[in-house]
Order: sequence, then C-alpha cells, then structure tokens
Amino acid sequence: MDNQLVVVLDFGGQYKELIARRVRECSVASVIKPGDMPVDELAALKPIGIILTGGPDSVYRDGAPKCDPKLFELGVPILGICYGMQLMIHTLGGAVEPCSVSEYGRTKVTVDPASPIFAGMDKQQVGLMSHTDQVGALPPGFQSIAHTAHCPNAAVADPARKLYGMQFHPEVENTPNGTQMIYNFLYNVCGAKGDYNIGDYETRMIAEIREQVGDEHVVLGLSGGVDSSVCAALLAKAIPGRVHCIFVDHGLMRKNEGDEVEAAFAGRDLHFIRVNAEERFLRRLKGVTDPERKRKIIGEEFVRVFEEEAAKLGDVRFLAQGTIYPDVIESGVNSAVIKSHHNVGGLPEDIKFKGLVEPLRGLFKDEVRVLGRRLGLPESIVNRQPFPGPGLAVRCIGEVTKEKLDMLREADAIFREEMKRCRRRADQYFAVLTDTRSVGVMGDFRTHGYTIALRAVKTTDFMTCEVVPIAHSLLTRTATRIVNEVKGVSRVVYDITGKPPATIEWE
Ligand code: XMP
Repeated sequence: MDNQLVVVLDFGGQYKELIARRVRECSVASVIKPGDMPVDELAALKPIGIILTGGPDSVYRDGAPKCDPKLFELGVPILGICYGMQLMIHTLGGAVEPCSVSEYGRTKVTVDPASPIFAGMDKQQVGLMSHTDQVGALPPGFQSIAHTAHCPNAAVADPARKLYGMQFHPEVENTPNGTQMIYNFLYNVCGAKGDYNIGDYETRMIAEIREQVGDEHVVLGLSGGVDSSVCAALLAKAIPGRVHCIFVDHGLMRKNEGDEVEAAFAGRDLHFIRVNAEERFLRRLKGVTDPERKRKIIGEEFVRVFEEEAAKLGDVRFLAQGTIYPDVIESGVNSAVIKSHHNVGGLPEDIKFKGLVEPLRGLFKDEVRVLGRRLGLPESIVNRQPFPGPGLAVRCIGEVTKEKLDMLREADAIFREEMKRCRRRADQYFAVLTDTRSVGVMGDFRTHGYTIALRAVKTTDFMTCEVVPIAHSLLTRTATRIVNEVKGVSRVVYDITGKPPATIEWE
C-alpha cells in the first residue's frame, strides 16, 4: 500500500476492530497486528503512528501480554489505550497499580486543551472508563494531561517522544468526542495527510485483480449477501466479461429475494447463472427435523450444485470470495481463532483452482457497503440484513415443506413491510414459523393453524443482542394482517428473549 499507515497492536482488547475503523474514518489506512509483533517487522511497514489496544490483563501479572521495549525507541508516535497505556508506562519504568476506586462506564474527564490530542476541545469531557488498574508514578518525560475524580492520570503524554496514553476508550460511542481525540492524534501528532479513501481502495483493487487474473476467467459463488454482491460488482468492473457468478437459489430465500438478486446482477457485465434448485433441496430435506442435519444437508447440496455448475463452465482458473477483514482477523491471522469463516458455503478443497481472488479482504463491513453504493448496487442489496446460509430452513421449525415455506415467506414479508412503513429500526428482524399449532376462531369456524413468532433485535456484533421494544400498535397491526392474509396461520407471538440466553435464530 502506498498510503500512510497506522498499525493497531492487539493486546486482547475487545475494541481492536473499532479502533482500526475509527482511524479509517479519519481517512488514514490502518491494519491490526499482534501485540508482540517483532519491532523490525513493524518498522518495515513504515507506520506514521502506532496504537496499543486495551486488554483484559494486568501488566504486573506473570504471562500478561508484553511488547518489545524497542517499540518506544522507533521514534514513531504511539497512543496507548487502557491496557496499552499501562503497558507503555510499565515498560518505560513508571508504576501501574490497582485502583482504590475502579471506574466503569461514562465518567467525567477534565482534559488539558493545550495538549495536541485535546486541541480545540472543552476542558470537560466524558470518557468510557473500564479499569481496575491505573497509572501511578510516571516515567521521566511524561506528564498528566487529563484526570477524573478518582484517576489522576486519565491521560498522559511525553510530547518530546510523541508518546500518549489514555485510560479511557476514545474509540467507543460512550466517549462522545473520542473520534476527535483519535483524529487529533493522527493529524496533530502523527502528521497524517488523510490519504485513505474507499475510491483509492477500489482503484488499487481493480489493478490488483487485473494483474492477478491476467486473461483468465473467474467464478464466484454469489449468495446475494452484501459481501459476495459487492465482490461481484467489483470484479465486473475490473475484468468485464470474464466473471461467472453462480447463484444457487435453494428455494429457502425470502419472498421475491431470488428475483431481486437476479435483477440487481442480470444487467451487469458478468455471466449471471441462476440455478433454481428448490426441488432438489426440498427433496433432500424431506422428513428431516433436526436443525444440525438440516444445515449439513443444505451445505452439502449447495456444494454439489456449485461443483456441477463450475464444471460446466470448463476452464475457469480462479475462484473469487467475498472475504472481508473481520473474517481474516477472526480466522486467527493474529492470535486467537474465534471462528473460521468461509464465504462460499464450505466449498471442498478438491475444487481445483489456480488461485483465490479476495479483493475485499482489507475492508470492514461498513466500508464494503460504501464501496457497493459506489459501484451502483441498490440499497436493497447494500443494506441487506444478515441472512443465514441455510435460509428459511432454520426459521421453519421442524420439517421443511414448500407449503410451510410459503406461509413463512408471506408472514415475513408482511412483518418487513410494516417495520419499514413505521420506520422502526432493528439490526435484524424476521418471522419464524413455529411447529406449534393452536386452536383459533375465524368467522364462526374453529381453526387449527400454525403459530408465527416475530423477532426483532438490536446488535452490533450479532454475538449478543437485545430485543427491540416494538410499539404495540405495530405488533397488533402486523399480527392482524398475518392472520388475515396468510392461510394456515392462526396465532402470532413476539419473541422477547435476548441473546444470551437465546440465540438470534430459532434453530
Ligand atoms: P445466532 O442464531 O447464532 O445468529 O444468534 C447470529 C447471527 O448469525 C446468523 N446465522 C447464520 N449465518 N449461516 C450463516 O451464514 C448460518 O448457519 C447461520 N446461523 C445464524 C444469524 O442470522 C445472526 O445474524
């Protein structure tokens, strides 16, 4: 990369991706690297600044993550956040000690606006604190540049060596002016020029794709999700006429979804192949009720269809995937493996390709969305909610049949329509067709129909979630419409369980 670069060194903090994102929001390129990265490798990246993340450990505990002390002799500006600040102070000979009063949550912080990282800011700020240790005696050269009621060194600086530290977290929303503080570090201390933007990324990726692929052809498994869709649009621009997108419509999509995906891609310069495979998927799912079996069957069948279609294309030498930066990080490039991602529904290793094309592997999700818009993808694709690979099969409890799927599709479409009409925001919302049938009365007749459950959640990482408190009027209108318009449904309930203890999907 030709851009100026900031390296985020990871010490196990939960906000490392957020820090890297904030830096990019300030128009500076960022990468995340392990905290113990050798200093010469780090120097070879020629960073303009280094940020040390927080982490759950105590610097004085045996086995706590450390960094090479030579890091602080590089002459590169450093900002340590929480554990990162404590590690810097500890390594340079200062004291870190348990707090007499731990601080958690939004805390009043008095800052020194004469410091370049607080330049132009009011003295009174709010910062998110979350610590049981704090910095005591400072190493030579350091001074305090912020304090709270209980923490005399809420931020510290050695301006001559361009070393800064903050006990609070500037990267989170609960520090309202935190992004400005990061901006100040980048522009007032590191000398950032602001040379990173998504347009340049696009130009660079297009050049890289052309160089990697040469005159050959590329095949991409397109699910209609944001990442694979943006990847397809980028490839179409880079190597028009030589991209083959295989969209396996397994019949487990939401209402009109297959057609929407087709409409979004059919007009582009790529060979869009839609495989209508509903029948073979439903055949294999017949009589299956165990959720894990459903997932396995769908995964396997997807691979078989993909293989068959890829084979028909003949000599396609490259496989493209919509892998994005969090996939790369969470797959253990740094240290801990959280989960292994594969974006093409678990393709077998024996599909022979000369190479993998992953042009989005440097981007975060919201950057992928921005790129998608630049490439002219419609909002319906760019803003798509996450949708499980096994589709509606895991929202149709018990056996999956065409009749049940159709009921679910209709109910789900009504719920989505009503949510949209009321502009109710939720990060993910959908209907589930439960396996419970209950007695109802319609007209003067007894009914015995299915129960639909509605679910709407607020989340950022999808690892935990809260239920969205939807207005009763919206719920009752949705329920009335579903029971009136979807034959076979006689009851609607709203799921009010968070995650944990529940999961977002029902299966
Ligand atoms: P859970 O149900 O585990 O879901 O709380 C968390 C998020 O992941 C999505 N999800 C899946 N996505 N394949 C996927 O690609 C799957 O098998 C799958 N299961 C759940 C879910 O929609 C939610 O956003």
